Amino acid sequence: MNISIFGSGYVGLVQAAMFADVGHRVICMDIDSARVERLQNGDVPFFEPGLAQLILDGVSSGQLTFTTDAKAAVQSSDYLFICVGTPSGNNGEADLSYVLDVASSIARYMTSRKVVITKSTVPVGTTDKVHAHITEALVQQGRNIPVVTASNPEFLKEGSAVADCRSPDRIIIGTNSPQVLEELRILYQAFNRNHEKIMHMDTRSAELTKYASNALLATKISFMNEMATIAEAVGADIEYVRRGMGSDPRIGYHFIYPGCGYGGSCFPKDVRALKHLAEQHNHSASILTAVHDTNQRQKNKLAERVMSCLGNNLTGKTIALWGLSFKPNTDDMREAPSRHLMDGVWSCGGKVRAFDPQATESCREIYGERDDLVLCASKEEALKGADVLVICTEWKAFWSPDFDLIKQELSAPIVIDGRNLYNTAQMEELGIAYYGIGRGRSLVTSP
Ligand code: UDX
Repeated sequence: MNISIFGSGYVGLVQAAMFADVGHRVICMDIDSARVERLQNGDVPFFEPGLAQLILDGVSSGQLTFTTDAKAAVQSSDYLFICVGTPSGNNGEADLSYVLDVASSIARYMTSRKVVITKSTVPVGTTDKVHAHITEALVQQGRNIPVVTASNPEFLKEGSAVADCRSPDRIIIGTNSPQVLEELRILYQAFNRNHEKIMHMDTRSAELTKYASNALLATKISFMNEMATIAEAVGADIEYVRRGMGSDPRIGYHFIYPGCGYGGSCFPKDVRALKHLAEQHNHSASILTAVHDTNQRQKNKLAERVMSCLGNNLTGKTIALWGLSFKPNTDDMREAPSRHLMDGVWSCGGKVRAFDPQATESCREIYGERDDLVLCASKEEALKGADVLVICTEWKAFWSPDFDLIKQELSAPIVIDGRNLYNTAQMEELGIAYYGIGRGRSLVTSP
């Protein structure tokens, strides 16, 4: 089948590569010509395990092409996927301008029936809006061409996007057209083999399913972070509590890891957008407000802990930072807890020596060259001349470090761990003051 994908971000690029991999002919269109040029050479503009090879394979087999030519992308395919960004606008409202720009291009260039599928995470009602936008434009131009729309949200996670896309838990198809449902069933055939994964529903329910899923996952995290704060206050250890809770199958072990707050391109934006959507419909979404506020507070925790250890004036102090990306296996620093930590340290006059296995370039792009930030080539180098160590991301490389070296390099043997990687008793034995998240016991017993 011929498929055009509009937008070459995480969702668009991974889906384009995956469709090409199973034999569809895919055109991926983006307005960013520099990005398109890089992609034509198989050069992926961000780090995502397995994606570069998939793109290279697609490009070299000719199944996958990249273009800035919207007309060619619209006219060459029957199936047009909208995968552009929906950034947070005013009041957290999702900004639909990129989505509607694609809809305008589709209306301008289409000369035959098209199936337009929204894959971007969009507010409920957007797929209907896209349909109305295209049909109104066609009517204005006096052209009578059929257009059908569907909502098909994407659930991939950064860091495991290729695997998630290859074996989706579910394929949600929101459409009121039985014909479109059948067409999309054929299009997704290769991903629907072991058992039935296609779930058919109306477009609005499909759109809400995506927001509701992300909001629930974010709620689990904020809930656990709140429990962690209570654990600190009462002298309990959230790591025992987490295991005790997770063993109940009704609760489960997934997404109940306390930490220094959720970041990334989805949870913060989608919680804000869903809250805004609810408010637009006269419902004040108090749970979502609390989830968001708890997360904001959580992201400040590491900087606050640095201050409580070293004082409010950090002039002359250096913080070693391990982990810049918002989670492991990505170079993405959007809404990353590390940014709150660095901002907090800098606002008190301190310096940061940071190491991340992949996000150094992203960090340089965000902050440029500055005297109070040294981007290091290894985790050991980040420790040199530092006073305390702060961990923001649970990259595998940080799980079993040389604790003797940490002790030797830091002026004060203090480790502030935003991901609870280490054993409190072991750290105590080593004589390292260890502050995790929600580890009340360590606060009681640490020097
Ligand atoms: C998320 C959703 O999981 C995915 O389904 C959706 O399509 C896009 O948004 P992503 O943002 O890539 O994916 O990462 P995810 O693994 O969900 O983590 C999000 C944030 O939550 C990270 O900052 C992570 O550190 C944090 N997190 C996750 C926790 O703090 N605790 C947990 O238990 C799990």
